[in-house]
Amino acid sequence: MYRINENYLKLPGSYLFSTIGKKVAAFSEEHPQASIIRLGIGDVTQPIVPAIIEALHHAVDEMGCAKTFHGYAPDQGYEFLRKAIAENDFQARGCDISPDEVFVSDGAKCDSGNIQEIFASDLKIAVCDPVYPVYVDTNVMAGRTGTYDAKTETWSDVIYMPCTEATGFVPELPKETPDLIYLCFPNNPTGAVLTKDQLQRWVDYANSRGAVIIYDAAYEAYITEENVPHTIFQCEGARTCAIELRSFSKNAGFTGLRLGATIIPKDLKCGETMLHSLWARRHGTKYNGAPYIVQRAGEAVYSDTAKVQLKEQIAYYQKNAQTIYNGLKDAGYSVSGGVNSPYIWLKTPDKMTSWEFFDFLLENANVVGTPGSGFGPSGEGYFRLTAFGTYENTLEAVERIKRI
Ligand SMILES: Cc1ncc(COP(=O)(O)O)c(C=O)c1O
Repeated sequence: MYRINENYLKLPGSYLFSTIGKKVAAFSEEHPQASIIRLGIGDVTQPIVPAIIEALHHAVDEMGCAKTFHGYAPDQGYEFLRKAIAENDFQARGCDISPDEVFVSDGAKCDSGNIQEIFASDLKIAVCDPVYPVYVDTNVMAGRTGTYDAKTETWSDVIYMPCTEATGFVPELPKETPDLIYLCFPNNPTGAVLTKDQLQRWVDYANSRGAVIIYDAAYEAYITEENVPHTIFQCEGARTCAIELRSFSKNAGFTGLRLGATIIPKDLKCGETMLHSLWARRHGTKYNGAPYIVQRAGEAVYSDTAKVQLKEQIAYYQKNAQTIYNGLKDAGYSVSGGVNSPYIWLKTPDKMTSWEFFDFLLENANVVGTPGSGFGPSGEGYFRLTAFGTYENTLEAVERIKRI
């Protein structure tokens, strides 16, 4: 008689986006005239830029010709893309990362969920609170998190690092020593960043404790401030303690195309074993590569023409972020994020809970955002708005919020 992985039964229902969907649908039905503006979900809205579309078309044509057809991709990804990533995202910033330390994938979500597989099942993980839920849930599935307390919405064997107004929305070094530390900066959902010095402290801490940092840099393209690192490998010593996750979703609009990369330096070792070898083994066994045409599109992201076009696209979203940030501030809200991030994190007014504010905003401004409590207990009393809408909708949403 078969049995199931009972760890899955421990997962509390992820009701966040389905509850939002249901509430919005019910409101729409009751108020068919209302024009609802959605600034909730973290998906991009602008089309893929022309230089990348051109590369896609070219690669599609190659697939139709026997001479240029491509079948299975190399396990780690095509050399042309790994080289482009290593050179542009790392070497150009003075970081010593070589193409063979880059593993191409179909996105940071899968990698951030799968990477825990190469670690022992009884390791202690540390996460920021609030947090991108994938880090915790995938460790729950692996049986690494203990028992769930519905009252506190926390797991007994997870170290939570509250990121609140009191900590400047950045985590403090935990009292209990973790083995695996998940960090995501610029952060989803708060939009907070770590300065180079702050991140260096984490790297020094991890090296001194024999911990590994899983560093999610999915929102790196939104950094505007000088002292904010674009990769953890800008910190000294990161090669012996860090794995970095990269995504093409938010810097180049690949949420539908799917492309990402994980960087594992060969100096990252547990005893004599390179984590690079374990991930290579895992990749070779369980993954058959991102499509050739998408990897060619990824290569095109680094062309001079695409760089100019993408800079403009990011600037478009950044303008939205500024519009929300400044508009809400003018309206008296306590706001953070938005400067190095497409996410604006605001404190709900009048001690409303995150869900109360969701209803309030939907009913009075017909604007949809995301309740902060959906990202963890320390997100209660906060609310996330995204800059990924159109400029016109963003402006209109802010004007409506100002009027209520
Ligand atoms: C922190 C973070 N990491 C990873 C992802 C997923 O990235 P991808 O589209 O590359 O899977 C997201 C998506 O919203 C995210 O917020």
